[in-house]
Amino acid sequence: MAQLFTRDTQAIFWNNNKTAIQRMLDYDYTIKRDKPSVAAIVAPTSGNKFDKFFYGPDEIMIPLFKNTADAKAAQPQADVLLNFASFRTAYDVTMEALEIGGFSSIMITAEGIPERLARKMNATAREKNVTVIGPATVGGIAPGAFKIANVGGTIENIVNSKLHRAGSCGLVTRSGGLFNELSNIISINADGIAEGVAIGGDRFVGSVFIDNLLRMEENPEVKYMLLLGEVGGTEEYKVIEAVKSGKIKKPIIAWCIGTIAKYYDSGVQFGHAGASANAERETAEAKNKAMAEAGIFVPSSFNDLPNKIAEVYNDLKAKGVIGEIEEPEMNVCPKVRKSKEFICTISDDRGDEATYAGFPISSVATPDTGKGIGDVISLLWFKKQYPKWATEFIETVLKTVADHGPAVSGAHNAKVTARAGKSVVESLVTGLLTIGPRFGGAIDGAAEYFKYADDHKLTPAEFLNHMKKEGVPIPGIGHRIKSLKNPDLRVEGLKKFAAENFPATPLLDYALTVEQLTTSKKENLILNVDGTIGILMVDMWRALGYTEEEINEFISSGTLNAFFIVGRSIGFIGHVLDEKRLAMPMYRHPMDDILYDVQVAEKI
Ligand code: ACO
Ligand code: LMR
Repeated sequence: MAQLFTRDTQAIFWNNNKTAIQRMLDYDYTIKRDKPSVAAIVAPTSGNKFDKFFYGPDEIMIPLFKNTADAKAAQPQADVLLNFASFRTAYDVTMEALEIGGFSSIMITAEGIPERLARKMNATAREKNVTVIGPATVGGIAPGAFKIANVGGTIENIVNSKLHRAGSCGLVTRSGGLFNELSNIISINADGIAEGVAIGGDRFVGSVFIDNLLRMEENPEVKYMLLLGEVGGTEEYKVIEAVKSGKIKKPIIAWCIGTIAKYYDSGVQFGHAGASANAERETAEAKNKAMAEAGIFVPSSFNDLPNKIAEVYNDLKAKGVIGEIEEPEMNVCPKVRKSKEFICTISDDRGDEATYAGFPISSVATPDTGKGIGDVISLLWFKKQYPKWATEFIETVLKTVADHGPAVSGAHNAKVTARAGKSVVESLVTGLLTIGPRFGGAIDGAAEYFKYADDHKLTPAEFLNHMKKEGVPIPGIGHRIKSLKNPDLRVEGLKKFAAENFPATPLLDYALTVEQLTTSKKENLILNVDGTIGILMVDMWRALGYTEEEINEFISSGTLNAFFIVGRSIGFIGHVLDEKRLAMPMYRHPMDDILYDVQVAEKI
């Protein structure tokens, strides 16, 4: 792989480090990337499903996941892991990601991962051909394509340091702070960088200087390289070997910092864990000397480095190796941005015509469109255009539950309310509020429990026992007036529709075996209309390809009862209008229909 990152590279960001993620997105917007560079965030302790971030003046939602496996499964194209876990967790997060697979590079920011673990982690990554950047790093950048987290600092700084578009230098440093400094120096003395990596300050880092320089040797955008090493370790000697053996042919400018160490009597430990010389050849002086002898461009001091850069760059330009760079147009992130309070993912009224899940209303509203209310529901509730058999099933359900006469509890309440002089909406709401676990609102419960029983392969007898222990009547079983002798023809109708139109009905098949057992105990313990709807909706969603997780979420959010709510609203409104039409007076329940059992109070 000649290039570490491209304009299509997307990352999974481990830890919801909002500032760093926002900086990446500001960068993306500035350089006009097509897709945001962060595809998913792993936030193990968050209960949220997404977080909002600015993308230029607008906001976008980035999905949150509890673990890397789920994030990777949802965003398989994201092949960079930005591991922002603490030093206590970073090892486990990296090892898990290596196990999951599909990552081409992993950047680890934590400093101070135990060295034994760091070595194991780096060795495992190397075996799997995964480039590890860090630990203890700010990361890296492919200017104009992809930027890791905080590299380059603020967007103003990035543009000033020409990190918004590719230049021609390949930059490798240990230090993150000096990475930014050098980017700036290179932008002043040359044309910026084509790719840059701060390999990290810990003693044992994943990719070392030579790994990065060999890759840059292959990267046609990189015309020369700049290596900023430091006192400690012997990695620079591998670079010297590669230059001597001709593996690296592009010019390298290099400097090892820490030459001041010689002025101290004893060994000096600089800021980085790896920055301490354990032998003469690990000193900055020795390494600078050896590099110069190998033909690497080594300045006389750090202060002389800018001149060296200018010299090498101008020479390559004169030779025609480096051409002129056309400055790209950039977006400018607004200074002041306001976060939106509400989010809507189902409809949009901003254009000439409002849309349902992207479909203009006129494309579903009139008969000539061939669309019905089932299509409108599939768009507005599920943000998908369901196939005909599914939208027809939805419509069959709505029509089936629209009314069941004036005596049922909800209709009765709506009628009483209308007769108290209340409006259509007030009377309707009274009826709707009656829908619950016993009346019309057992659909979600039926789906949940029957699905549970089927998922756990419970026999009907085991299921009944399970429900007994739970202490709840089985939702979807039983009816006040319907029974084996007086079957509910609505249920028969729904079952017939499913048999003729559904690809398969495994959950219904299971529920019917449960019904056999319950009706053998008591003949009104039939699979009722609520139960049939809930169970068939699960069969429908399974046939439509939803995951079990998605179906469970539909159930727990009350989606199934919503079908009864919509359907029965039609009937309730009918009853309310009926009351108004008949101008019925206030209702008072006949006292002889009430058993009064109130004790006579003793005299005070
Ligand atoms: N699961 C297990 N046992 C049940 C169930 C059930 N779903 N329903 C009733 N029973 C048993 C009761 O435990 C009781 O047993 P017992 O005689 O040994 O004490 C017996 O059957 C009668 O119980 P009731 O509550 O008097 O039954 P009733 O016929 O009056 O109630 C009702 C009907 C309320 C629908 C009831 O069956 C029930 O709660 N079912 C579950 C909820 C449900 O599905 N509601 C939707 C109905 S359809 C609709 O509203 C559109
Ligand atoms: C209904 O649809 O309202 C019923 O099944 C309930 C009932 O009591 O008939």
